[in-house]
Amino acid sequence: IPAGVLAGKRLVITAGPTREPIDPVRYISNHSSGKMGYAIAEAAAQAGASVTLVSGPVSIPVPEGVQVVPVETAEEMLAASQKAVDEGCDVFVATAAVADYRPESQAANKIKKSSESMNLSLVRNPDTLASVAARPDAPFTVGFAAETSDVEHYATDKMRRKKLDMIVANDVSSPGLGFNSDRNAVTVFWPQGQTSIGPDTKLAIAERLVALIAQHSDKVTHP
Ligand code: PMT
Repeated sequence: IPAGVLAGKRLVITAGPTREPIDPVRYISNHSSGKMGYAIAEAAAQAGASVTLVSGPVSIPVPEGVQVVPVETAEEMLAASQKAVDEGCDVFVATAAVADYRPESQAANKIKKSSESMNLSLVRNPDTLASVAARPDAPFTVGFAAETSDVEHYATDKMRRKKLDMIVANDVSSPGLGFNSDRNAVTVFWPQGQTSIGPDTKLAIAERLVALIAQHSDKVTHP
């Protein structure tokens, strides 16, 4: 990517999984490693942007020059993202794999195995991406969609429903791509077009995404 294509722009990126506590020792989560979001943060910083990464628990290094706000739960991710957008944001990119549901309540003590089965009552989590996109001062908003079938249909539907400017459909049906891998393959949709990128390394895909975001985010003016 040409150096400086995002100079002066402020990006907020969510990455990684969230952890939803069941009791003091257990949680619900998923296989997101944070690699895709961290690669976008690295590429954006190299392109001259100032980058805040709102990150769930991951075990990969923070790219140079990137500010990290660590979070655990979906509710913390929403609060930290809203705060980062309040502080100034031109582009919001949601790569996080947020738990859609959390346990209704967290047990104060470790739950004992007293019976052969148990029920866990779950409630819906807030949607960070949709909340940011719904702000009157919404930045250019980019969502991700991990899909296994009918990719175009589900991704473009998600873009319209959540009022996004761009959506990156992530092919998670092939082994070695998507969750917890160093490689990925995506198709990017925006209202007037689409393009496929990869299979390639997550950093190479991130560089192409940053170039696309730089190209399209200038054309959108939010009232
Ligand atoms: O972390 P890696 O191991 O590198 O893997 C990368 C990835 C596969 C997790 C990533 O590229 C990806 O596809 N992330 C989106 C995963 C997903 O299935 O998202 P979703 O369909 O649940 O949500 C759609 C969009 O809304 C996403 O941008 C998501 O971040 C956002 N969302 C969803 C739910 C919620 N409560 N809050 C959100 O912000």
